[in-house]
Amino acid sequence: MFVCMCYGVTDKDIRNAVQSEGAGNLRELRSHLNLGTQCGKCVQMAQEIIDQTIIDESLFKDVG
Ligand code: FES
Repeated sequence: MFVCMCYGVTDKDIRNAVQSEGAGNLRELRSHLNLGTQCGKCVQMAQEIIDQTIIDESLFKDVG
């Protein structure tokens, strides 16, 4: 699913940046991916995906 239509960034790209690059917020995400600087419509969705990925990761760690 495309989150940022202006730069063609998908939810998978964002999850990868959080998991592999350790991006924990939008500012850090922007240092890995180009998004949110054109129209800004994707910013809220991108933040939700960052939050959800971090929550999913911490749940996974608790189980493991
Ligand atoms: S959709 Fe991401 S900047 Fe426009």
